[in-house]
Amino acid sequence: MSYFPERPDQNLHAFAFSHLSAERSRMPQKPLVIWMTGISASGKSTIADALDMALQARGRLTCIIDGDSVRSGLCRDLGFTDSDRDENIRRVAEVARLMLDAGLVVIVALISPSAASRHYARAIIGNEHFVEVHVDAPLETAEKRDPKGLYKKARLGLIKHFTGIDSDYDVPIFPEVHVDTQTLSVEQSVATILDWVARNDECT
Ligand code: ADX
Repeated sequence: MSYFPERPDQNLHAFAFSHLSAERSRMPQKPLVIWMTGISASGKSTIADALDMALQARGRLTCIIDGDSVRSGLCRDLGFTDSDRDENIRRVAEVARLMLDAGLVVIVALISPSAASRHYARAIIGNEHFVEVHVDAPLETAEKRDPKGLYKKARLGLIKHFTGIDSDYDVPIFPEVHVDTQTLSVEQSVATILDWVARNDECT
């Protein structure tokens, strides 16, 4: 990949751990990364939470990686410039890949506004295990919801680089799943995602 600069060779030689490929095929669940992208207040965290419950009820081992959470820990040194967002997404994709190797169903809820960085996340994780879900709501609807009061602050110029206001969001062109949270209930959005998982999961 050329989207992010490669580190120069530092005499690193990754050990070929045998469990990564051999055992994965025998796992009782298909490891998956369900990558939710969408503007702030589109419903990503709410749907991630309900989806997590639904998958656990079906016996799946899951983990949620949510933007607001990682930004207070793993990514707390990062802001909201394009390059900081790219690094945020890269780190989350790398962590998700480790969890994938542990056999989990990983639910990621990140704005992940650029198509290029989502493409890079897909490359890190591997196409076969990556499901892009566009959690979609019109900007006006998200702005009316404004649960954290952030759109209001962004309109007043108190927050810079706010997605949809003064920072771009690349609408996914061919996501595996699209949920319109203006017309669908949380339950209907979860059902739409579960339906995709069931049709693509040989363990179901
Ligand atoms: S991403 O663009 O790098 O994927 P991420 O999902 O981690 O973003 O974080 C988004 C969350 O950060 C939002 O839900 C919101 O609570 C908060 N936030 C703070 N500043 C901004 C901003 N400028 N743009 C978008 N979200 C912001």
